Amino acid sequence: MSFSSIGEVKLAVGDPSRAEADIVVLGIHEGADPTAVTEALDKAAGGALRRAIETKDFKGEANEALLLYPTQGPARRILLVGLGKQAGLTRERIRSSAATAARRCRDLGVARACAFLFGQGTEISAEEAAEAFVEGALLGTFQYVEFKTKDREKIKTLGTLEILVPDERIRSAAEGGFSRARAVGLAVNYVRTLAAHPGNHATPSFLAAEAERLAADPARSLRCTIFDRAKMKDLGMGALLGVAKGSHEEPRFILLEYSAGDPGASTVAVVGKGLTFDAGGISIKPSAKMEDMKFDMCGGAAVLGIMSVLKEAGVKVNVVGAVPATENLPGGGAYKPGDILRSYSGKTIEIQNCDAEGRLILADALSYVARVHKPAAIVDMATLTGAVVIALGHYGAGLLSNDEPLAARIEDASKRSGDRLWRLPIWEEMNDHLKSDFADLKNIGDASAGGGTIIGGAFLGNFVDGIPWAHIDIAGTAYWEKDRPHLPKGPSGYGVRLIVDLLRHWGG
Ligand code: BES
Ligand code: MN
Ligand code: ZN
Repeated sequence: MSFSSIGEVKLAVGDPSRAEADIVVLGIHEGADPTAVTEALDKAAGGALRRAIETKDFKGEANEALLLYPTQGPARRILLVGLGKQAGLTRERIRSSAATAARRCRDLGVARACAFLFGQGTEISAEEAAEAFVEGALLGTFQYVEFKTKDREKIKTLGTLEILVPDERIRSAAEGGFSRARAVGLAVNYVRTLAAHPGNHATPSFLAAEAERLAADPARSLRCTIFDRAKMKDLGMGALLGVAKGSHEEPRFILLEYSAGDPGASTVAVVGKGLTFDAGGISIKPSAKMEDMKFDMCGGAAVLGIMSVLKEAGVKVNVVGAVPATENLPGGGAYKPGDILRSYSGKTIEIQNCDAEGRLILADALSYVARVHKPAAIVDMATLTGAVVIALGHYGAGLLSNDEPLAARIEDASKRSGDRLWRLPIWEEMNDHLKSDFADLKNIGDASAGGGTIIGGAFLGNFVDGIPWAHIDIAGTAYWEKDRPHLPKGPSGYGVRLIVDLLRHWGG
């Protein structure tokens, strides 16, 4: 399993006007007076920057980029990158400009690029700026080419990206953000790689083997437990097993436990939908874009990526990661509309649509972690409903929660991390719409009432035993076919930055 981004990222004290590199990257704010660093680089490059700015060929607008070939000075190329207006610079803009810059360097296939850290002299601290810069650069240069066999020599890579800061004081202030972003950025790209894997490779047992591989490294402080079909039967996970019936692929229930090393620390559970291919089951989906349903395990992949990096990110709370994993296919043994499944919680569920399967496998995972691990909070991530793409598009995920403080913590983490989300309600009345004539619950609401995302959330809320819980519907944010600077087209790795940030700020 492999992906490429940047060979190596480094942080060092250095002066861009003296840097000997294939490319020297300099961020420039729109309408701002030239800084001392800009002037020094311009001087070393024989006035190349001044000419570009005087001709108005480069204005400094966000994500603008202009490549210069100076006739003198140590840099072979200079890449000017626009940062937009200096006032109100955001971390998100640093991420996307850094992505623009790093991608340009990658496309030129250079061995060594040096970039002067963006955001100096603004309200953004060196730590935050370095974090955002490294995230943007690593996320923006992600490429998944594992299954390409032709013309592999044409695949361009960036060898080393060195981030330069003016002095030792700033270097040490930036260090924490830099190394954390390096770890988290790699985890995001790992999740994208898992997600990009086709359904015939990324099966439930493949995800389970990945979880075991992560736990095999003692540096991660993880313990891995895998349940197979027989074990799930013993435990009574009838909802997960019901979904798995239509497929020849063996289901798995994956557990990873992170121990923060402090016995008094509280525990947070993170649950991710690991539906490795969703054909809709007997309620089969239309064929257009069905191939995208290999991405229906993005929540589960995010959980693996999150668990992989907790130790390195310095998380001080214990974390349980759970991934119910199966396919949803219309095989001869498949569960059918009208069937009633007995969930792990004991609650019975009447199936009215076999394509509303995510909530079934999550029901068992949520009540398992609630009962067995009794965490202080549970957060689940799932590509649960097409309706969330109608509500929030590909711009943000839907957040639903039964607990105000938890929702507020997640909203704060979202603002810091850049993984955007927006809260949607769960209203009491919606549970009436989930009542079944024959079982305790049915798995869909009334189609004419709409509100598919909030109904999905309300359903899940029945399986958390009253524990503070939040559900993040990532159907619109887990992947997209359009390119954005730090979110190349394809899977986004959404949720890793969000949840790592949430857990880092959790406290003991
Ligand atoms: N995996 C889908 C949701 C989905 C849709 C994810 C589009 C990504 C993009 C989920 O299992 C599903 O099929 N949901 C149904 C629920 C409905 C039957 C109540 C949906 O959204 O149509
Ligand atoms: Mn489905
Ligand atoms: Zn699904």
